[in-house]
Amino acid sequence: MRKADDLVQRYGPWAMVLGASEGVGSAFVEMLAAQGLNVLLISRRQQVIDEVAAKAESDFGIQTRTLALDLFAPDAMEQLIAATADLDVGFLVNCAGGDAHYGDFLDRDLNSDEALLFRNCTLLMRVCHHYGKQMVERGRGGIVIMSSGAAVAGAPGLATYAGTKAFDLLFAEALWGELKPQGVDVLCVMLADTDTPTLRHQMLIRGKIASMDEAPKGATPSSFVAEEALRYIEKGPTRIISRKLRIGSRIMGVMGRNSAVAVMTAAAKKIMG
Ligand SMILES: NC(=O)c1ccc[n+]([C@@H]2O[C@H](COP(=O)([O-])OP(=O)(O)OC[C@H]3O[C@@H](n4cnc5c(N)ncnc54)[C@H](OP(=O)(O)O)[C@@H]3O)[C@@H](O)[C@H]2O)c1
Repeated sequence: MRKADDLVQRYGPWAMVLGASEGVGSAFVEMLAAQGLNVLLISRRQQVIDEVAAKAESDFGIQTRTLALDLFAPDAMEQLIAATADLDVGFLVNCAGGDAHYGDFLDRDLNSDEALLFRNCTLLMRVCHHYGKQMVERGRGGIVIMSSGAAVAGAPGLATYAGTKAFDLLFAEALWGELKPQGVDVLCVMLADTDTPTLRHQMLIRGKIASMDEAPKGATPSSFVAEEALRYIEKGPTRIISRKLRIGSRIMGVMGRNSAVAVMTAAAKKIMG
């Protein structure tokens, strides 16, 4: 990772974290604050982001702002623009991309799939378009986009989620090619199981853990994801966080689509089934 002063110069003074109240998002808030960046925290629960923000301020002496916002709101982008009108946003990460409801497409509530699609694709595009332009004008900045091992191949139970994560992966890699020569770093972070409340919730429903206090076996700590993202952001375009996923995706990349789908289907069944 660069020295803290370098990070502030390259990505400061303000970072914006979407989905900042828990999990990977709150780990980003802490990691960015520890490097000296001021942070704008966004998610739906005002009280929770206020608490995360207060801790970051008192631990690291940075400034924070909070915005309680449902990112599926029709005017979400307008609200984000208004909230950042007087801020110099040099770093952006969208962590509000998970899906708490694993299940077959036809059995799912289409509204919740549309909300997921909007958060992971449409809103992400809008945010990258607006803040990416500002970053290019300044000739510096950083954008982190969260993808998933689910993007490597399709599997039952993950149709919309995996589709959005495949979009995120390819969108980020293309954006990296366009923005990197203009001074803006873009990194796609591909995660395998990561210990967050969303994962614990899914594991609890499936009887894989006994309570929300139990860490899922083998899951990557959220803090490690934020740390790795800041370590690899200059390299781009993609950092696969888990060693197992790094090896798995390489093997699946050469095995042909139909075999990869079979492997992914078996893996999803083992984790979620
Ligand atoms: N955890 C894993 O095992 C795993 C694996 C692969 C990839 N990933 C990816 O990593 C990223 C982070 O995952 P995660 O598990 O930390 O959590 P997540 O469930 O993706 O995100 C939770 C955060 O997003 C906020 N959020 C959710 N819906 C929102 C909405 N409509 N409007 C505004 N904020 C919203 C939540 O806060 P509020 O409830 O306060 O709104 C919370 O802060 C996601 O993109 C996910 O797809 C995670």
